[in-house]
Amino acid sequence: MSKPFYITTAIDYVNGQPHLGHAYEKIITDVIARARRSLGQEVFFLTGLDEHGQKVQQAAQADGKTPQVYCDGLAADWQAFAQKLELTNNDFVRTTSTRHKEFVQAILTKLHAAGEFYQKTYEGFYSAKEETFLTEKDRRLDGTFDPSYGEVVKIQENNYWFKLKAHQQWLIDYLEANPSFVQPDYRRNEVLGFLKNNELEDLCISRPLARLNWGIPLPFDKDYVTYVWFDALVNYISVPANLGDAGVLAVSQSAISNRQSAIQLWPADVHFIGKDILKFHAVYWPIMLKAMGLPLPKQILVHGWWQKDGAKMSKSTGNVVDPVAIIAEWGVDAFRFYVVRELAIGPDGNWTDAGFKSRYQAELANGLGNLVNRSLSMLKRYRNGVVPARHDELAPDAAKVVAETQALLEQSDLQGALQAIWQLVNRANQYVDQTKPFSLAKDPAQAQRLDEVLYNLAETCRVLAVLLCPFIPSTTTKIYSQLGLTDSPDKFSAASWGGLQAGHTIGDPAPLFPRKDA
Ligand code: ME8
Ligand code: MG
Repeated sequence: MSKPFYITTAIDYVNGQPHLGHAYEKIITDVIARARRSLGQEVFFLTGLDEHGQKVQQAAQADGKTPQVYCDGLAADWQAFAQKLELTNNDFVRTTSTRHKEFVQAILTKLHAAGEFYQKTYEGFYSAKEETFLTEKDRRLDGTFDPSYGEVVKIQENNYWFKLKAHQQWLIDYLEANPSFVQPDYRRNEVLGFLKNNELEDLCISRPLARLNWGIPLPFDKDYVTYVWFDALVNYISVPANLGDAGVLAVSQSAISNRQSAIQLWPADVHFIGKDILKFHAVYWPIMLKAMGLPLPKQILVHGWWQKDGAKMSKSTGNVVDPVAIIAEWGVDAFRFYVVRELAIGPDGNWTDAGFKSRYQAELANGLGNLVNRSLSMLKRYRNGVVPARHDELAPDAAKVVAETQALLEQSDLQGALQAIWQLVNRANQYVDQTKPFSLAKDPAQAQRLDEVLYNLAETCRVLAVLLCPFIPSTTTKIYSQLGLTDSPDKFSAASWGGLQAGHTIGDPAPLFPRKDA
């Protein structure tokens, strides 16, 4: 059995409701997963929740609930959210699940036995918000810490530490030798710059029970729980282990039995994450894997952050984009389309309601929606919905866009792929304006020409449905059904020209993206 393409999102802290940033990361991952499947690859797409740590414990406390009850409630909301986004994730990990906790403990036992941890007393600063220790180096010129750390307190604590330092040069060499390991390039350079200009500190992997009890107990010391990041990162292998990935199971020395049919997932092909958690994924995680004797993921793909109206999204100021409200008003595909089309993978983005509406109107309603509706309506009106003989006038335009789209999807350039696909949308709309089928229909001598035009338009709509399936799956299913096709547009190979057969009768056209006038 060949190894599936294994792609993951970050797992979100369950200390509130999902927002635009979370939705974006999941949609991009879903589009990559669907595109790979369309191109014939087997895919395993993992997402889920990060439920331990001080941040979650404090949120639960503020809500007057025990952490587990609090997490269970929110986990249901987040799973419903994944469905709302129409994600095709193959599994959903919760770090409070037994399957995950057991595996983390097995890894800890193994690394402890291998001498990778030691104890020492730490005196310094701690940010609960970022769950991290800070040093004098983290202070700004005026002595304060960056507001993103929230409240910073002075602490003195005995803890377990993981020997990171020793692997610094190895990691630099690995990053130098593997340019595609961290992408885009400027993120790779950021990691390299950090590693070359700072001496790595060892990583504290425990929290004393006296301060925090919401975590996975250290298997070798009952007075401690596991540091939330050491727990969270392991999700990427705890799920494969539980599905019977022998490569991962071998290192855990655990009693986890093979619960399902064996599968080979690790190493992941892509970890898709936001820019703020780059250090955890590109520094800590590779070193953890090296210590476990496991191969590294093939790529850490890093996206930027969304703002709203040019300012940081923040619950306290009410400056947030609520994906659920947008989807309720505009439909899930309008939302999926906008976030992928608006923001390339890498830079930061800015949400404005005006920008969203303008793309909806121009690209979805007047662009794709209008093309499909008028093409199928004319076929219905002038030919009773019966597809005329094949004609290839737009075939070269379609072939060019199909080839470009495939290449861009293989590079995970989703914004580029949508731009390529819209060349075909625009070309076909222009073709209607140039050939004027509504005028041809008035002249019986032009019957043959009208047949040609109608075939080209209907077939272009079909090809577009195949190309757009990973991005706006429900809409493309509707296009197929309006075309009277009973199969699914989810196979890229069906994008080659000539799929519509002469004599086939289409279904009933209906607007895909209703115009919304204020
Ligand atoms: O960091 N725009 O969880 P998290 C784009 N549990 N992306 C954003 C964003 C925004 N405004 N805000 C957040 C954690 N994100 C850890 C991850 S992984 C083993 C553990 C992204 O809920 C953020 O960059 O704070 C991250 O990739 C994801 O949402 C989860 O963030
Ligand atoms: Mg965060």
